[in-house]
Amino acid sequence: MKYTRQNPYYSYLKDRCLLNKGSTKKTYHISLEINSNELDFKVGDSIGVIPLNDIKLIKKTLKNLKINQPNDLEITALNKVNICTGTKKLILKIKDNLKNSTLLTSLEKILLNKDTLDKYLNSRHVWQILEEFPSDITLDDTCLNLRTMLPRFYSIASSKNFVKNEMHLLVTENTYHLQNTICYGIGSNYLCNLAKINDPIAIYVQKSPYFTLPVDEETPIIMIGPGTGLAPFRAFLQDRCLNKTISLKNWLFFGERNKNYDFYYQNFLEEIQVRNQLKLNVAFSRDQDKKIYVQDLIKKNGNEFFQWIRDGAIIYICGDAKQMAKAVEKTILKVFQDAGKMSDNEAGIYLKMLRKNKRYLCDVY
Ligand SMILES: Cc1cc2nc3c(=O)[nH]c(=O)nc-3n(C[C@H](O)[C@H](O)[C@H](O)COP(=O)(O)OP(=O)(O)OC[C@H]3O[C@@H](n4cnc5c(N)ncnc54)[C@H](O)[C@@H]3O)c2cc1C
Ligand SMILES: NC(=O)c1ccc[n+]([C@@H]2O[C@H](COP(=O)([O-])OP(=O)(O)OC[C@H]3O[C@@H](n4cnc5c(N)ncnc54)[C@H](OP(=O)(O)O)[C@@H]3O)[C@@H](O)[C@H]2O)c1
Repeated sequence: MKYTRQNPYYSYLKDRCLLNKGSTKKTYHISLEINSNELDFKVGDSIGVIPLNDIKLIKKTLKNLKINQPNDLEITALNKVNICTGTKKLILKIKDNLKNSTLLTSLEKILLNKDTLDKYLNSRHVWQILEEFPSDITLDDTCLNLRTMLPRFYSIASSKNFVKNEMHLLVTENTYHLQNTICYGIGSNYLCNLAKINDPIAIYVQKSPYFTLPVDEETPIIMIGPGTGLAPFRAFLQDRCLNKTISLKNWLFFGERNKNYDFYYQNFLEEIQVRNQLKLNVAFSRDQDKKIYVQDLIKKNGNEFFQWIRDGAIIYICGDAKQMAKAVEKTILKVFQDAGKMSDNEAGIYLKMLRKNKRYLCDVY
């Protein structure tokens, strides 16, 4: 059976454990109960999770639609849409249903230009819009004019060959502030806080055809995964190292904020390091005044890094797309120039060749 966003697989929340108690962020190890025979996935794949909204936000939204004692159908209807971010369509629909002329004038001002509208929509949740502009809009019209609830993706952090009937995730709680109030990202809040043990979690597998282990276990691999970017590499390393004693060429660059709190899966990583199955470099950015990032360690180990590539290593990068992946690529190009004695142009061509040969693989978000 092929499970999809429209026809998801129902796993169960088996266990959830805060990995970094005392840290400035919250990252959880999440275990989903699955039937390994029913769900087809390999290391490097991700899952799409279809989240539910926070019931408190649902009730506030319904209250502002004059529904004070909601039934299951009304709650279900709001779980199918994003009630955290309003839309222009919703504002226009409210306008059509607004009787108060003063409020109508205020709403027209918001709609006057794109910047004003975006600023307005990006500073409140839907229930606040409904509260500010009480109108005769119905629940059906509200749902029709909001965005469909989108799945959130999470890298699979366990190998099927090692962990049976479970799937592990590494999830950081996403937070932001609106009007001095702390708010939570829908998907991460659902997995990290709202879902209860044994609750069904709707998921489907998002395949990554290339971002996976090479067939030959002697092929060296270099994994660069700060933050939750570590997730797929835990699965890679479980697959490659566990139940084996031979030494292996796996090199991991991991980075997080503070060593005392944010060294996820430290015991596992150090255990395979001792067995000569992992070369491990860690960058804890906030343990000293000047930030140290994974790319600083790549630069420091430039000659050996280049030698591994010469020896056929595959480079994998996972985690933040906005800053990290770009900064890492820049550093790797510099390593090609310095250790590989290449010009700027040659380094670019060399990277292109690695990409073409699926030896420079990114799973960034
Ligand atoms: C292939 C892939 C793999 C991934 N793997 C992992 C993983 O292993 N672990 C992991 O933790 N993450 C992973 N992610 C990221 C994950 O999918 C989510 O993007 C992340 O959890 C945040 O989603 P969310 O639903 O919690 O936040 P969302 O609800 O989507 O919010 C995200 C941001 O939007 C803004 N926002 C939302 N609503 C408003 C509003 N009303 N006003 C203003 N701003 C607003 C805020 O800045 C907020 O932080 C992965 C992503 C991809 C694509
Ligand atoms: N808004 C939120 O609350 C929130 C929560 C979770 C995830 N996210 C987003 O999800 C993605 C992954 O987040 P994550 O929690 O896994 O980890 P992350 O935010 O990427 O942080 C992991 C480590 O990477 C460091 N880092 C920051 N900038 C970097 C750069 N330019 N190059 C290399 N390393 C850098 C961080 O250091 P410093 O932080 O000390 O600089 C930290 O030590 C990011 O896009 C992040 O923005 C956002």
